[in-house]
Amino acid sequence: LADGPLKGRRIIVTSGPTHEPIDPVRYIANRSSGAQGTALARALAGLGAEVVFVTGPADVPPPAGVTVERVETARQMLAAVEDALPADAAVFAAAVADWRVANASASKVKKDGGGRLPALEFAENPDILARVAQMGDGRPALVVGFAAETDDVIAHATAKRGRKGCDWIVANDVSPATGIMGGTENAVTLITAEGAQSWPRMAKEQVANRLAQMIAEALA
Ligand code: C5P
Repeated sequence: LADGPLKGRRIIVTSGPTHEPIDPVRYIANRSSGAQGTALARALAGLGAEVVFVTGPADVPPPAGVTVERVETARQMLAAVEDALPADAAVFAAAVADWRVANASASKVKKDGGGRLPALEFAENPDILARVAQMGDGRPALVVGFAAETDDVIAHATAKRGRKGCDWIVANDVSPATGIMGGTENAVTLITAEGAQSWPRMAKEQVANRLAQMIAEALA
């Protein structure tokens, strides 16, 4: 482990999308690349933290120097996070699927010769961030969530911070025109108890370094 201000601190980072099966060969997913979560885990490890990196099936490889827990579904991600507790901080950068397929099939769904179409039913996934933020005993001292919004970013993210019970929300505008989702840059607004601060657009690595620095200061 690197030497640095986070030496001796244990931090959980979730990252990437989740995959929610329809049947053994098909799934529902989202466009998260895992780039921001991966950069953050790397930056935290670089400051000396012991990082447990809980990742869904991401496009980018996990960083070196962290403990990697690979999961597919939201429920597996929750279980991996619970196994990784206790921690000094937890940062939820994953794009967790809000819903899973309630009537997933154990065998491959066959095309019906008569033209009948399958009907998917959905069930709500557990909200991992909200659960950890609202746990009593053993809650990490700092719980950070992300909010991908397409409009009214500050208002929605501020409301989300209250609803989820986390300490900070890192909000970003993922409207297709911004090119942020799946891109290399991010423009974030950090929402804390003190209010909102908007950062200039910068590389996801720079966002990660700046956040990691602030996390180190908050835990000091
Ligand atoms: O509610 P929304 O999905 O916009 O909230 C985003 C934040 O909540 C992210 O930090 C994400 O990682 C976390 N989240 C979660 N579990 C869910 C849904 C979102 O941890 N089921």
